[in-house]
Amino acid sequence: MDKFHIVGPTRLAGRVRASGAKNAALPALTASLLTDAPLTLRRVPHVRDIRTLQKLLDHLGVVTEETGGALILRRERPNPEHDAPYDLVRTMRASVLVLGPLLAKEGHARVSLPGGCAIGVRPIDQHLKGLTALGADVQLTHGYVEATAARLVGARFRFDMPTVTGTENVMMAATLARGTTVLECCACEPEVVDLANLLNAMGAHVSGAGTETIVVDGVESLGAAEHAIIPDRIEGGTYLIGAVLTRGDVTLEGASAADLAPLLDKLAEVGASVEVSAEDIRVQGAGDIQSLDLETSPHPGFPTDLQAQYMALMTRADGVATISETVFENRFQHAPELARMGADIRVDGGRARVYGPKPLTGAGVMATDLRASACLVLAGVAAQGETVVDRIYHLDRGYEGMELKLQKLGARVARWSVPMS
Ligand code: EPU
Repeated sequence: MDKFHIVGPTRLAGRVRASGAKNAALPALTASLLTDAPLTLRRVPHVRDIRTLQKLLDHLGVVTEETGGALILRRERPNPEHDAPYDLVRTMRASVLVLGPLLAKEGHARVSLPGGCAIGVRPIDQHLKGLTALGADVQLTHGYVEATAARLVGARFRFDMPTVTGTENVMMAATLARGTTVLECCACEPEVVDLANLLNAMGAHVSGAGTETIVVDGVESLGAAEHAIIPDRIEGGTYLIGAVLTRGDVTLEGASAADLAPLLDKLAEVGASVEVSAEDIRVQGAGDIQSLDLETSPHPGFPTDLQAQYMALMTRADGVATISETVFENRFQHAPELARMGADIRVDGGRARVYGPKPLTGAGVMATDLRASACLVLAGVAAQGETVVDRIYHLDRGYEGMELKLQKLGARVARWSVPMS
């Protein structure tokens, strides 16, 4: 199991380019199940979650080829079982994104329930309700969702809460339904918009993505498309928070300032300098940083996926910050690890109070999930002395070459590969 060995403190400075967004690439890959024609996807990040999904897609008959920096996916040998077995689903919840496309294209899907995960219970009831509203017969047996429909039929459906992958799953299914589907209380995340753009390039008729109401006029079939995945706002945002935490100066290339607005506004409020140009975003963290409360919420609110990194920043800010996590019920597992590095954080249910500024000191810490890992790595770069972040495989799920990008920004971070005993 790999670890990161970090020697700090260093001031992050320089230019870094955002990779393609993992959470946009995952649904884009599953869209290959909606067609027999090839999908050419550019800017797919080289991260472990993508490799995990490729294994599942391979099981479902999708052949993937990588040429000239693009991933070409084609469903050449459909698996008659249309199934996503437990072994391939349990390591990654996003595998459930194969359900909507398989059902819509093949009339049948058998997908293992993903089970719990480190950041909360995360049910998929909204995905299932949405597909049922489109006429699917959905049964839960032996830990599997079994969904059947000769042909889905367009309908009006309102999600009980905005769900990113739920919106994506039902939106994909609706593209091949007979008639019009109106989805209400949809997730408005940029990744949903990116998927809608891909689906439209494949010949679908999707409008309203990025708002709470999405309308899909079903078509008979979808075809080939080429599409470039949007830049990863969470990955890019992580480096920008790192700039402020280390009182550095980082320019993020190729990112969308609009998609990052909730973070950029917050960084300006805490006292950082934020400059946005057509090409890049420059953030400087010189001077005093103020503690400011934060509440996560669905887009366009502050993303839960940057909450852990913001907590690392607040440990070095002046004052007390209350961080409220409203999206997931168990997403403060980085707090006790930050405390091992000298932070003073008190967690009470969905709220954490961070008392700053505290000097951070290097320590051995354990990553518990993807974004918690990123938070600990940033804290390690800012801390005095040596930090070893264990279980870095969580980080590898969603950050492309993080140690290389951090090294380019001046951090002293190395990957230690430790053979499994
Ligand atoms: N929820 C339900 N029922 C459902 C679906 C969701 O109760 O059927 C609840 C969840 O338990 C949660 C809330 O609704 O409390 C929102 O969850 P959502 O469904 O939006 O999350 P997700 O689609 O499973 C995606 C990202 C996550 C990101 C969340 C929130 C992907 C592959 N994953 O998850 O990314 O945190 O949206 O923005 O898109 C990450 O990249 O580290 C990550 C966890």
